[in-house]
Amino acid sequence: MVPIGQDAAVMSFSLLIFGALMLQSVSSQNEPSIVASEHAILPVEGDRLTLQCNLTSAHSVLQESFWMKNGEEISETRLTNKMNMEYELKKPRGDNAGVYMCVFTFLSSPSGNATIEVKSAPEIRGHKRSENRNEGQQAVLYCKSVGFPHPMWTWRKFDNGVFREIDNTTGRFYISSRENYTELYIANLDIVSDPGEYHCNATNMFGSRDEKSTLRVRSHLAPLWPLLGVLAEIIILVIIIVVYEKRKKPEDLQDDDDLAGPVKTNSTNNHKDKNLRQRNTN
Ligand SMILES: *[C@@H]1O[C@H](CO)[C@@H](O)[C@H](O)[C@H]1NC(C)=O
Ligand SMILES: *[C@@H]1O[C@H](CO)[C@@H](O)[C@H](O)[C@H]1NC(C)=O
Ligand SMILES: *[C@@H]1O[C@H](CO)[C@@H](O)[C@H](O)[C@H]1NC(C)=O
Ligand SMILES: *[C@@H]1O[C@H](CO)[C@@H](O)[C@H](O)[C@H]1NC(C)=O
Ligand SMILES: *[C@@H]1O[C@H](CO)[C@@H](O)[C@H](O)[C@H]1NC(C)=O
Repeated sequence: MVPIGQDAAVMSFSLLIFGALMLQSVSSQNEPSIVASEHAILPVEGDRLTLQCNLTSAHSVLQESFWMKNGEEISETRLTNKMNMEYELKKPRGDNAGVYMCVFTFLSSPSGNATIEVKSAPEIRGHKRSENRNEGQQAVLYCKSVGFPHPMWTWRKFDNGVFREIDNTTGRFYISSRENYTELYIANLDIVSDPGEYHCNATNMFGSRDEKSTLRVRSHLAPLWPLLGVLAEIIILVIIIVVYEKRKKPEDLQDDDDLAGPVKTNSTNNHKDKNLRQRNTN
């Protein structure tokens, strides 16, 4: 019983291996062969980098070929019936780094592809330069990078001339980083301990970059100041008017009486003249 069981196990195991080998050879026979440029590291000698892919054998009729970068087709690279593909990067910089792929499509078999990695040190493109908030509010600082592979992100605070790890004893600091983006979120801002210079640091095997964000925290009374200013102005204005009116009133009344006399007589005189003139014309 036992030996037979073992034999059966060995048999099915070798069948499995045989099947796997068969599958592999069948699939590799169907796959086209592509010779691609070596991976590259920026910066390169000279001012251009040419990526190449040559289709050296295929089992079906070649249709189209095109280039992709980071999983997306690069527009205007699609060509028909072209076995030697070329994509030129002029003056390549951090934003040209990434995973390039050449793809060949065939009439009656799955498409074939090859990848070329273009690597570079990270560069920080875009960050929050400054954030002005009130105490008790939250602040969000961020940095974005180009370059490949995506960097490891860290945040530090520049305090009295030295970089310090962020002190999270109050549990108000949250860092979330994904690929080319990092965010430092600070909850319930403290006016004493939080203001200052925060630095994001992006590091991969080819280099490292750093950018600073300045956080300012105002008293929560700050937004009331303009309102208080306006109120103070109104109060002062009212006081001035009241004082002025109180002092000026008796004289003003006097002036009015003086003026009223002659004006009244004048207007009655004019009236009489008019009536006279009207009668005359009649
Ligand atoms: C692709 O083919 C061209 C033309 O034959 C050749 O100059 C180039 O070196 C080849 N590229 C690669 C990566 O093999
Ligand atoms: C590239 O080829 C692999 C198999 O070799 C395939 O799984 C993948 O879908 C292909 N990608 C594209 C974009 O054609
Ligand atoms: C960051 O990566 C995402 C997806 O990986 C991409 O859509 C975006 O353009 C990248 N941003 C930068 C600044 O490279
Ligand atoms: C800070 O502490 C809070 C609460 O303990 C935690 O959720 C958060 O992940 C910590 N942030 C960092 C950057 O370690
Ligand atoms: C970023 O942090 C790493 C590790 O702490 C450090 O070696 C590197 O000098 C920093 N980069 C910059 C630009 O400050």
